[in-house]
Amino acid sequence: MSTGCWISITIFLFDLLSILSSLLSSLVVWLHNQGEAEKLLHTCHILSTTTILCRNSLSSSTSKDEQWHNDVLGQKAADTLKALRFDHINAVGFVNLRCTLFPGCPVGINPLDPTEADIRNKDARAFFAGIYMELLNISREQVPRHIGNVCCAQFAVTRARIQTRPKSDYERMLKWADQSQEVDFGVGWVFEKLWDIIFGMDAINCPNYEQCRCDLYGWCGPLASGEVLIPKYT
Ligand SMILES: *[C@@H]1O[C@H](CO)[C@@H](O)[C@H](O)[C@H]1NC(C)=O
Repeated sequence: MSTGCWISITIFLFDLLSILSSLLSSLVVWLHNQGEAEKLLHTCHILSTTTILCRNSLSSSTSKDEQWHNDVLGQKAADTLKALRFDHINAVGFVNLRCTLFPGCPVGINPLDPTEADIRNKDARAFFAGIYMELLNISREQVPRHIGNVCCAQFAVTRARIQTRPKSDYERMLKWADQSQEVDFGVGWVFEKLWDIIFGMDAINCPNYEQCRCDLYGWCGPLASGEVLIPKYT
C-alpha cells in the first residue's frame, strides 16, 4: 500500500475518533505546534479502529517518508507500516516501533539520583523526579528509581490502552506541556521518556532486540546461531 493510501485511510479514520483519542491527538498536535525544532514532537495517525500510531516528526523533517528511528526494515516509513503485526500490538497494548536498544536501554534516567554533571548543566534529568510527579500526579515514593526504554518514541498504542487512563490525566499532561513552554529543555524529550509509562508499560521496557523484530515485523530468523524465533503472540 502506498504512503498516499495510508494517509487517506488515516484521515478517513481520523473523522471517526472518539473524544478520548481526539484528546491524545490534540496533545500531540499541540506539541507539534510548539514551534522550536527541539520541541517538535509527535504526530499521530489512527491506523485502525483499535490502534494509533505516533511518530516523532523531528526525525522525519528532512524527508516525508524517511526516518532513522525505525531500524528493522530500513528507513522507509511505509515499509515499516506494511510489515507491522497488529496481533502483537493488540496483545501488548503499546509498542515502540524501534527495536534497537541504544540509546535509552537498559537505563536512560535515574530520576532520584541525577549526576553532578546533569545538575550542573541543568539537564532535564536533574529535574526528572519533579517532572514525573507533576505529570503523573503521584508522590515521590512512587517515582521509579530507574527508567529505561527504546529511544525516539515512534509507537503504536491501542485505543483500549489509551482509555485505561481517565481523560483528566491527559488534560493534566497537556496543561503541563503548555506551562512548560519557557523551560530550556525539550518538552518533547520528556514525553519520549514517558510514553511507555503513560501507556501502562514497566518503567524499564527494553524487549530483546531479535524477539522485538520477530514480534513486530515477523523477521524471526534464522539468527546467526541458526535459531528461528517464534512470535510471542501469534
Ligand atoms: C491528583 O490526584 C488526586 C487524587 O490522588 C486528585 O484528587 C487530583 O484532582 C489530581 N490532580 C490533578 C491535577 O490531576
